[in-house]
Amino acid sequence: MIRDGKLVAFPTETVYGLGADAMNPKAVRKIFKVKNRPTDNPLIVHVSDLKQLKEVTSHVPKVAKLFMNAFWPGPLSLVLPKNKLLPSETTAGFDTVVVRFPKHPVALALIKAAGTPIAAPSANLSGKVSPTRATHVIDDLQGKIPLIIDSGEIEYGLESTVLDCTTLVPTVLRPGSVTIEELRKIVPKTETISLDSIKRAPGMKYRHYAPEVPITLFVGSPQNTAKAIYEYVKERGQDSVVVLWHSGDFASLPNNYRLPTNTYEAAPLLFHTLRTADIPQAKRILIQGYKAEEMGVAIMNRLEKAASSIVYV
Ligand code: TXA
Ligand code: MG
Repeated sequence: MIRDGKLVAFPTETVYGLGADAMNPKAVRKIFKVKNRPTDNPLIVHVSDLKQLKEVTSHVPKVAKLFMNAFWPGPLSLVLPKNKLLPSETTAGFDTVVVRFPKHPVALALIKAAGTPIAAPSANLSGKVSPTRATHVIDDLQGKIPLIIDSGEIEYGLESTVLDCTTLVPTVLRPGSVTIEELRKIVPKTETISLDSIKRAPGMKYRHYAPEVPITLFVGSPQNTAKAIYEYVKERGQDSVVVLWHSGDFASLPNNYRLPTNTYEAAPLLFHTLRTADIPQAKRILIQGYKAEEMGVAIMNRLEKAASSIVYV
């Protein structure tokens, strides 16, 4: 189907992707149409071995090779200079391409069988959270694509780290499962996201990862956020709010979803919980934030983008 220019939803170790032949502009245009994705937001190109890099990049900077050796296959995507063969549709006109070598066996088997690099954004409708189960893909895309490969729940549950290797200093454009601490073990001068670099990852400017119901995110220590959420619920009533929490005691509320306190355990459950919490009777979802360190950086990045208001306590 990929070789025929059709779209296939498939699992990766981070989230489900919506794949098309990266070298086929017509197929790639279908991805934007089906997801309703802004056409200025480029796609990640997935490869199943290092040889395939030649098909999409003009060259591979030395620094990128260091990161590849350390983290590929795995949840790290690298911004590299694109070559002329890769259609501009895939990179939304950019002269760079984001390449990822996933480690999920089904993703690798699909790319190998297709015999071509596969362009794939997350397999959700634009504006929804990324799918971590095949049922999420069905909810968003059923009837719009001919095939969804179901491999159950996903290991990481947050999208890959996007690292720009075309700049003087390697720069994280999107935090993810590979943390800044891990990247700095390979190249100590690696920089993390700045306001300027947010603009360079075109997808980061869109407010997405958001359920229908507005979210208020509480940021602060576990004690302070628990107290603030408790007061909010006491004031406005418990029936119209949904509480996503990890510390304190909200288990007796009618609409509450408990997440693990450990961020590495919480990450794979986060998007599923956000989808589940998106119930019609809710007027607002209250979320207890995590400390922004290690995996907490990526979690808080997604929650901040999903939130319509943030309360610092
Ligand atoms: O884990 C993942 O990365 C998943 C799985 C399916 O591999 N894919 C994914 O793709 O999250 P997507 O399209 O939802 O996010 C890609 C991000 C966007 O923020 C996009 O703007 C950025 O990467 N990006 C893509 N090409 C870029 C480029 N040439 N320069 C800078 N940022 C780029
Ligand atoms: Mg996405």
